[in-house]
Amino acid sequence: MSFTQNILITGGAGFIGTHLVKRMVKLYPQYRIVNLDLLTYAGNLSNLTDVENAPNYVFCKGDIRDHVLLEGLFATYAFDGVIHLAAESHVDRSISNPMAFVETNILGTLNLLNVAKAHWDKPTHQRFYHISTDEVYGSLGETGFFTEETAYDPRSPYSASKAGSDMLVRAYHHTFGLPTVVSNCSNNYGPYQFPEKLIPLIINNICNNKTLPVYGDGLYTRDWLWVEDHAAAIDLIYHQGKIGETYNIGGNNERRNIELVHYLCDVMDELLGRSQGTSRQLITFVKDRPGHDRRYAIDASKLKNELNWEPQVNPEDGLKMTAQWYLDNSEWLEAVTSGAYQQYYESHYL
Ligand code: NAD
Ligand code: TYD
Repeated sequence: MSFTQNILITGGAGFIGTHLVKRMVKLYPQYRIVNLDLLTYAGNLSNLTDVENAPNYVFCKGDIRDHVLLEGLFATYAFDGVIHLAAESHVDRSISNPMAFVETNILGTLNLLNVAKAHWDKPTHQRFYHISTDEVYGSLGETGFFTEETAYDPRSPYSASKAGSDMLVRAYHHTFGLPTVVSNCSNNYGPYQFPEKLIPLIINNICNNKTLPVYGDGLYTRDWLWVEDHAAAIDLIYHQGKIGETYNIGGNNERRNIELVHYLCDVMDELLGRSQGTSRQLITFVKDRPGHDRRYAIDASKLKNELNWEPQVNPEDGLKMTAQWYLDNSEWLEAVTSGAYQQYYESHYL
């Protein structure tokens, strides 16, 4: 079978990658999607069973830091595009082990850039698309939004490593003419998110009658986006974004952590048939995260004005769908929280 494009998606067995791979494989049977993922604790092939036998899908277990492997993949598939998501993604883990973040996020991205540059000597239609985070912009006060012009001011090892990889991607465009695009997105939520992140952690703990750890005063603010809205934005930017540009992606959906946790408690009480207020009693304010960024909020008007993208799912519906998904997929939750997760949880929270 011949394909009109071969696309390398890295990190396709992780949370956002799962949604993106499914979307691309199903929507574009004319493209061959090659998913390269190391299957760390955060990657899970069982997320992708409904596309694993699709004729336009290939899975490769491997490391973005492995130069020989990448050379072989580029030689075999002559990629037309790279959509790069593979990363260490959790801020708390970056505080306890920054080196892993530098190695994967910075050195892994550099390795990928070098191989793409070597294979795309005189790029015509190719593109290298780096998926990044709004956390590179630092922290906001009570007002204001991050725009594409906001100066980078990363403040955690995670955001510093993503800022470093963004800078390398931009530098490869500027210095070598590599056809690159970057997008910086706010916090995603939805099915398949590993329960180290706030929303699935709260849902999992409610299911298990465990305390709900809220860092500090709980007044930290994040802008939450339904993960499939992010996947749709990535699809659009991959196809229509301008080379050399950056696009901010956001949900226009700011919530203080404590308000979000209250809402989730109430939704879970309803879904579990418990009386209202039951889950809220599990809330415990715990020691704050070191260097905790106070507020993130995205101005996504460039993406709206230039590419006509807007989030489609409203937050109340999205959070209810998320809670319901975790209840319907308790085996998934049990599988990912067995083994090493317990160690992580105990060392971090207990
Ligand atoms: P995730 O942690 O759920 O998944 C990361 C995936 O990368 C996993 O499947 C893992 O196995 C794989 N991986 C890790 N190291 C690898 C390596 N060395 N080689 C190959 N594969 C490797 O992350 P996510 O939440 O899906 O985030 C995906 C991307 O989007 C990341 O680059 C992240 O920085 C960015 N991002 C995430 C959010 C969010 O809210 N989750 C928001 C904005 C941007
Ligand atoms: P998280 O999901 O880790 O995303 P990020 O740090 O990348 O924004 O955290 C979201 C917010 O929730 C952040 O302000 C930290 C806070 N938080 C808690 O209060 N308790 C928790 O157990 C976790 C994991 C996060």
